[in-house]
Amino acid sequence: MTTPTVLRPSAETQYADELVALAATDDKPRPPQWKLSPQAVVRYVLGGTLSDGTVITPKYVGERRLVEVAVGTLVTDRALLLVGVPGTAKSWLSEHLAAAISGNSTLIVQGTAGTSEEAVRYGWNYARLISEGPSEAALVPSPVLRAMQTGAVARVEELTRMPAEVQDSLITILSEKALPVPELNLQFQAIPGFTLIGTANDRDRGVNQMSSALARRFNTVVLPPPATEDAEVEIVSQRAAQLGRALELPSEPPALDEVRRVVRIFRELRGGSTVDGRTQLKKPSGSLSTAEAISVVTSGMALAAHFGDGSLGADELAAGLLGAVIKDRVSDTAAWQEYLEAVVKERKEWRDLYRACRELDPA
Ligand SMILES: Nc1ncnc2c1ncn2[C@@H]1O[C@H](COP(=O)(O)OP(=O)(O)OP(=O)(O)O)[C@@H](O)[C@H]1O
Ligand SMILES: [Mg+2]
Repeated sequence: MTTPTVLRPSAETQYADELVALAATDDKPRPPQWKLSPQAVVRYVLGGTLSDGTVITPKYVGERRLVEVAVGTLVTDRALLLVGVPGTAKSWLSEHLAAAISGNSTLIVQGTAGTSEEAVRYGWNYARLISEGPSEAALVPSPVLRAMQTGAVARVEELTRMPAEVQDSLITILSEKALPVPELNLQFQAIPGFTLIGTANDRDRGVNQMSSALARRFNTVVLPPPATEDAEVEIVSQRAAQLGRALELPSEPPALDEVRRVVRIFRELRGGSTVDGRTQLKKPSGSLSTAEAISVVTSGMALAAHFGDGSLGADELAAGLLGAVIKDRVSDTAAWQEYLEAVVKERKEWRDLYRACRELDPA
């Protein structure tokens, strides 16, 4: 792996070695402009060992079929929409797919309530526009237009947060594979390889519902939260260890037992009952996603490294847990207190955690 010189190198930089090794051993046919064959893309995402011995680290932990369907969609002329609850790796998977397919994951439009049509289509360099009038040189292409011109994957994050009329400017692009520029009386036509990956959060459903005309241009793949505790423990410990390395935290990789505690707490509170199904629990308002479990563990590692003995324990976890669970001071505090007294206190091997949480918040 190359040493990062920026805080967060893009996937194609961080995993450049893996991508080179995959391309070198890839003997399957590649669609036009694709850097890898669809099989090699799936292998890049899910990990494995190549014939030359190179180990490909798994990026997405989940069902192979889901990833195959996602990659299969991008081979066709349909765009891909990844949907799911928060923290299910929609953005993460989209970045890695773009990196493996086009070698560039940075052609990205971030959808917000304020995203304008220019961000999706094109804008103008106003100094040039005024001095020279409308010309191709004065036109500022959006990331989507650049993807069309280079036959690459464009990414639209949080698609359904954009106003409906801005979303709909994607319809012509996706159905005609062309972008008309009436000011110049021309249209840009996409070259093969151009496609688009959108992500949308389930929780935003109904904020700016996608028009059915646009929805028809997408194949939707739903990314589920990790099915089992073991799967979630694997994701959290793998990502926390990677992040710890990237941030150069001088701490040990997190102990599996500690990760398991965090994951169990998250899963129980999310689901509203204990694993044995005996105790019903109040659900906190936050999403308690896998992504937040990862940050509880990572910030615990930072505390342990700089203010503790280097290994993650109950004291370091307590602070992060409280912050993750209590988003609404009143209702979440009640849910957390109930959980602490009814569940954490009762588990003998969790005494240290109970004590640490009580010390922080002696309500
Ligand atoms: N199944 C999984 N496999 C690998 N990593 C995962 C998985 N689920 C979650 N993660 C990790 O969770 C973190 C957050 O993921 P990401 O930001 O992509 O979520 P998201 O679905 O885009 O969330 P949001 O809806 O909030 O935008 C990433 O670091 C990712 O590695
Ligand atoms: Mg996201």
